[in-house]
Amino acid sequence: MTRKPMIAGTWKMNMTATEATKLVQQLAYQYEDNYGEIDVVICPPFTALRSAQVILDYETKSKICIGAQDVYWEPKGAFTGAISAEMLKNLSCVYCIIGHSERREYFCESDEQVARKAVALTEAGIAPILCCGETLETREAGEAISFVTDQIRAALDGLPASQAGGIVLAYEPIWAIGTGRTPSPEQADEVCAALRDTFCDLYGSAAAEQLRILYGGSMNPGNVEAFCAMPNIDGGLVGGASLKADDFLALVKAFS
Ligand code: PGA
Repeated sequence: MTRKPMIAGTWKMNMTATEATKLVQQLAYQYEDNYGEIDVVICPPFTALRSAQVILDYETKSKICIGAQDVYWEPKGAFTGAISAEMLKNLSCVYCIIGHSERREYFCESDEQVARKAVALTEAGIAPILCCGETLETREAGEAISFVTDQIRAALDGLPASQAGGIVLAYEPIWAIGTGRTPSPEQADEVCAALRDTFCDLYGSAAAEQLRILYGGSMNPGNVEAFCAMPNIDGGLVGGASLKADDFLALVKAFS
């Protein structure tokens, strides 16, 4: 079967709400109608979600949708600073990134917490973009595949098959994020194939066939074509190159 490709841009902790307004406007205006079938997602910081929503709602023909970069699993209450899935839903978020290596490293996010976020999101009707990825040390020890498949099994623990349909996985080797270094497309594809097999074990072959798996880590207009050509890579999760409209749309064009 053919899976609809996806490009998701994560802006990380970049862009004030004012700066975000400008970038979203550029993306909406420069988006060309002749791009093929593709899901295009931007994930601004929480503080810019509202500006993005207003612009993209106004641009009725816009094909760009909104995602968040994180969520807290509780529905509401005394959790200072936290943002719930329902709050994201109300700002038109269709996707939410969870388990990014930066959250795991700097905010001590555990597999168990990622699993709780996955459940909270799917219950609210938001599709998780669930990230995994190994360090360089793990790759050099020949343990990349077992490491990332364990991460995914742990994060999906507790998610029933009825909720697994919308999940998107993102394979992001930590050593490739923001470094300009990437695995070869074949190496990335090998890991994505193993992730698909893991999903098959958990949810069956039909779900695994439909599962979209993104590659992330220094994807840019110069290397995107090679990743596109891989059978198990259905799109990209993009950091640096999502902060410039021209670069981001070049990636959209390549995958569409
Ligand atoms: P990068 O970030 O494209 O800047 O390497 C990717 C990511 O963290 O998702």
